Amino acid sequence: MISYDERQKLFHLSGERFSYLFQVLPQGYLRHLYYGQRIGGVQDAEEMFPVRACSFSPGLPGCGDSRFSPDTFSCEFSVYGAGDFRECSLLLEKEDGTRTADFRYEGYEISPEKGGPDGMPAFRGGETLAVRLKDTLSSLRLVLYYTVYEEENAIVRRAVLQNTGPSVRILRFMSFCSDFPAGNYDRISLNGAYAAERMPDRAPLSQGVYTVSSTRCASSHEHNPFFAISATGASEEWGEVYGFLLVYSGSFVMRAEKDALGGVRVTGGIGDTGFCWRLDKGGRFCTPEAALVYSCEGTGGMSRELHDLLRRRLLPQSRKETPIVLNSWEAAGFSYDANKLASLIRGAAELGAECFVLDDGWFGSRSDDTSSLGDWTPNRRKLGGGLESVAKLCRENGLSFGIWVEPEMISKNSELYRSHPDWCVRCKGLAPIESRRQLVLDLVNPAVREYLRSSLDAIFSQGVSYVKWDMNRNVAEEISYTLPPERRAEFGHRYILALYELLDYFTRKYPDIFFLGCAGGGGRYDAGMLYYFPVQWASDNTDAADRCRIQYGGSYAYPLCTSDNHVSSCPNLSTGRTTPLKTRADVASLGGFGAELDPAKLSEEEKAELRTYAVRQKKLRSLIAEGDVFRLKDPFAGNEFCMEVLSKDKKTAYAVWVHFFAAANPPPMRLRFRGLDKAACYLVEETGQRLMGDVLVNAGLPLPLPYGDFISETFTLKVCPKGAEEGKNER
Ligand code: DGJ
Repeated sequence: MISYDERQKLFHLSGERFSYLFQVLPQGYLRHLYYGQRIGGVQDAEEMFPVRACSFSPGLPGCGDSRFSPDTFSCEFSVYGAGDFRECSLLLEKEDGTRTADFRYEGYEISPEKGGPDGMPAFRGGETLAVRLKDTLSSLRLVLYYTVYEEENAIVRRAVLQNTGPSVRILRFMSFCSDFPAGNYDRISLNGAYAAERMPDRAPLSQGVYTVSSTRCASSHEHNPFFAISATGASEEWGEVYGFLLVYSGSFVMRAEKDALGGVRVTGGIGDTGFCWRLDKGGRFCTPEAALVYSCEGTGGMSRELHDLLRRRLLPQSRKETPIVLNSWEAAGFSYDANKLASLIRGAAELGAECFVLDDGWFGSRSDDTSSLGDWTPNRRKLGGGLESVAKLCRENGLSFGIWVEPEMISKNSELYRSHPDWCVRCKGLAPIESRRQLVLDLVNPAVREYLRSSLDAIFSQGVSYVKWDMNRNVAEEISYTLPPERRAEFGHRYILALYELLDYFTRKYPDIFFLGCAGGGGRYDAGMLYYFPVQWASDNTDAADRCRIQYGGSYAYPLCTSDNHVSSCPNLSTGRTTPLKTRADVASLGGFGAELDPAKLSEEEKAELRTYAVRQKKLRSLIAEGDVFRLKDPFAGNEFCMEVLSKDKKTAYAVWVHFFAAANPPPMRLRFRGLDKAACYLVEETGQRLMGDVLVNAGLPLPLPYGDFISETFTLKVCPKGAEEGKNER
């Protein structure tokens, strides 16, 4: 709900469990007052939220009241150049070279529906407040948008700059700015590397600026566009936590600054390293959206708010169940022929898969990573016919057919490069910079986009029902010579806009195709990509022990249904480690499920075992997709991992527990569930026990003694029908 108190010029945004208050000061500046647990409102904001200036902090321009310093009051959007020395949200350079701007309140509108940011993914629906501000020094207008999602306890923010005067250059423009009162906070982010994505990183915020960012023209393996701050001491289950999520897939930045008085400012938006956007007369520039959620139920509560928000308001509404796949990559790499494919397809059917995915190597003359990207023509010799024949073989085996593509790339050794050497991203005078022996296509060039539309249309219409869209390197030289010199610094953002345009085209044109996003694993696992491709290949690392950490970290921000997880062979290709097949399958069951191995190399027992996991997954799929996640045991903190998924009606729960390293004489271990209906009786399917919810939550289940490394157990709880529990509960 959004309300406005005319007397105090005070906006109150509220959801079921949060309130967010800000006020228009008499001078026209916006002052942030409160963000936290829901409150009824305040009668006297000045008295309730007194301000204090600090030595060396300047006053507001033209305002004698020295209490109000732009450097010390909490604000809604911090603008560079007029006395706020903390991190700014907006930095402009005007035609005369000056960088000072002075935005003051003009008015507001509340509308029942929201619009979206131009050409970018956006949350759906929601009552929206638009606050208009005008620069007293120019013809620039700044509009701050706030959309409120009451049930999900979220605010979605974006900002728009409109210019009716001389050109300006935008050097920094954040999607949000959020100021918090003095206190002790931790900062939490998801950092990592290739094959080790989204590792939670938490530490106390101390005075100064903490930054997570990507300058790779992709959200990156290294840092995820998610950020949180929590009250020091907040745990997984309790305490105040604020989560911030950018809906953006390119270079980004999230900053948390703790100032001299202990207050904290969090800002986030398009990365500003090298960023510069020219805004001419009549132009507008819109930031990507950012979601802000609040929970007093710890990091777990914050995650559940984000999961609900993403599932209900961002992921495609018509999204399909993730099919159980067999993917050819770890089974065959680039080396296959028609016989091998036929064997993989028959094997996939034997394992209970629903779809066979033909990964890299099916096009041009590609037999390793040195050639053919861009030549999207099937290699008929290698496939033993065209794609249609592979699709037909899949159909005959009861499977749908999926295919891998990497449309944003071009190999030097390709027909496409030979005919269009100027289509790759490059800097004249330098040899084009290669990475994984490939170059990036200049998507900013409309001819390149047209080529991709027509060449991929020809592929996607050949009986394909699943597409894995990969991206295996980052952009080094951010230049497109199709842009005039004064706009070349806009490349990074324009690349992402061009990418979104293509994703929009393909997902609209092929509504029946299931799209899986991938960037060398989870190198672009962000809310922007999830808007188009609701499932991402979480990591190239399929080692079950490492996957516990990767999937656990990813769940801080993203619902389990967005993570694609496959069972692969052992020793694992990334780590050389051997883990039991059961553990690999149990860990993979927490999301989209599949296999990435050669069925011909499995024993009959292993095949039979894998078939049971495919059957189990079909039963679990909707629970995993829609349920609430509880992280029960933290693999970063000890020797165990456990995640529970609970249906919204609390009637079904599923938990996966992994014990990493065995030791002689281990201590007794228990598993305490969370969120269950304490007054209900649950059947534990795996053990046949009937136990009350309060027992499972408070006393917990005794866990088996681990014997051997990397063992796992699953626990599937079902509420017993009334009467079935009589005389059988454990109290
Ligand atoms: C990187 C992906 O993450 C892998 O799964 C596989 O598709 C390879 N690319 C193929 O080149």
